[in-house]
Amino acid sequence: MRKVSSAITPVITIDRKARTPFHRQIYDGYCAAIMGGMLRPGQRVPSTRGLASELGISRIPVLGAYAQLLAEGYFQSRVGTGTAVSLSLPDQTVFLDARRAPVPTVRRSLGSIAKHASLPDGVENAPWHRGWGPFGVGQVAFDQFPFPVWNSLVTRHCRKISPKYLDYSNPLGLKALREAIAVYLRTARGVRCEAEHIMIVSGSQQALDICVRALLDPGSRVWMEEPGYRFARSVFGLNDCQVVPVPVDQEGLNVFAGIKRCHNARAALVTPSHQYPLGFTMSASRRLQLLDWAEGSRSWILEDDYDSDYRYENLPISSLQGLDRHSRVVYLGTFSKVLFSSLRLGYLVVPPDLVNRFRAVRLAMDIAPATFSQAVLADFISEGHFSRHIRRMRMLYSERRNALVNSISAEIGPGFEVTGSEAGMHVCVIRDGIRDREIAARAARVDLSIVPLSSCYAGERRRQGFILGFGSTPAADMSNAVRRLRSIPGGPAKPVPRKADN
Ligand SMILES: Cc1ncc(COP(=O)(O)O)c(C=O)c1O
Repeated sequence: MRKVSSAITPVITIDRKARTPFHRQIYDGYCAAIMGGMLRPGQRVPSTRGLASELGISRIPVLGAYAQLLAEGYFQSRVGTGTAVSLSLPDQTVFLDARRAPVPTVRRSLGSIAKHASLPDGVENAPWHRGWGPFGVGQVAFDQFPFPVWNSLVTRHCRKISPKYLDYSNPLGLKALREAIAVYLRTARGVRCEAEHIMIVSGSQQALDICVRALLDPGSRVWMEEPGYRFARSVFGLNDCQVVPVPVDQEGLNVFAGIKRCHNARAALVTPSHQYPLGFTMSASRRLQLLDWAEGSRSWILEDDYDSDYRYENLPISSLQGLDRHSRVVYLGTFSKVLFSSLRLGYLVVPPDLVNRFRAVRLAMDIAPATFSQAVLADFISEGHFSRHIRRMRMLYSERRNALVNSISAEIGPGFEVTGSEAGMHVCVIRDGIRDREIAARAARVDLSIVPLSSCYAGERRRQGFILGFGSTPAADMSNAVRRLRSIPGGPAKPVPRKADN
């Protein structure tokens, strides 16, 4: 049987018209790749037979070049492991110099870069985006995920992998998964949908991008909650839409304020179940006002229902989409909070008459998410593991949330207003007059992952405070974490009791 080399073929070109013999061209090609750092010490090279067949030449010049490279110490060869770039190269200085040659990073002009690539300042490079440690927003109880169940489903699908899983798939996503999601959404979230209206996406961020491409134009104006989800703002920015910040109060987005600022906005992005970041639930009257506005102005409502599965004080609130009688709402859901965010799976519920348009946009983008993970998730939901996991996590997060709220009141005191603790996986603590970004940057240095509230505003009038996630911190560790937060210079120190209080 023909032995196939597993090494990657480097860029070795053969000029058939050149006077230089083939063996010399191959030798020169390898030397240049090694000197330039494209081939690194220890890296395997293709077999002589493999390279000859790739280059479409006889094996003799390849054998000649390899013999020379071995003799000069550029290659080493060991029985059983094949030929590799030598670990001790003869001319280390040339090699290292080439590797050290910097890739140019400073340009004289950025003229050729798309203007819309100028994303909102510092969204992803902010100093508090260290990402790990207590309070990480969006971090779930990773260690509580039922990995044995998940692994057995993965194994099951690996065993019976069929050619249809390997081909391009339906842009709406795997039917079995859409059916499982439809059952869940109708039952648990009061969403009016059938599997044919659901599109599987790689998380809400992509869901929003698809909505914008399907429904809006460059320059379209969009209401966004103020404060709101800053990563959503980047999606609008990337698509050249203009964000109109609309204030939020205890009843959610203030629809009349939105109408006053921009009555003919083409869309509104809202988080009615658990406003991000303040955590308020949109009242029934605001929901109806918003639907009325959308119908009257032929605008779209984009409902981001990112963490509504977790409610602690009362039953989950039905979706806004379930109240919509004019097909103005597109519903966005994600598995990032209920399962884990690196899964990158979410979904859209699209009004029936828009499904073809959304499908066309999706085809023009990346066609569909990987089929394999969709198949595993479909079984995870339809076999009951999903609802079991949510029930278990609801109890766990309720405990963690209580621990956080109690620790804030014991360790930090009443100076901070705590909002949004009835649902989800974060609370917001507000206190004007502090410098929340500086504190968040300091916190990151000691592995506390907090998001400053002021970073969620688009306009100039910004409240100060922190968004504190509680999903990944065990209840027993919470008060220690809050004490660490309290001790950050400039942070939320416990107020000293006044004499009269004693
Ligand atoms: C308001 C909001 N929407 C959506 C998401 C989830 O986004 P994705 O599905 O892209 O992970 C988050 C995550 O933190 C969020 O805070």
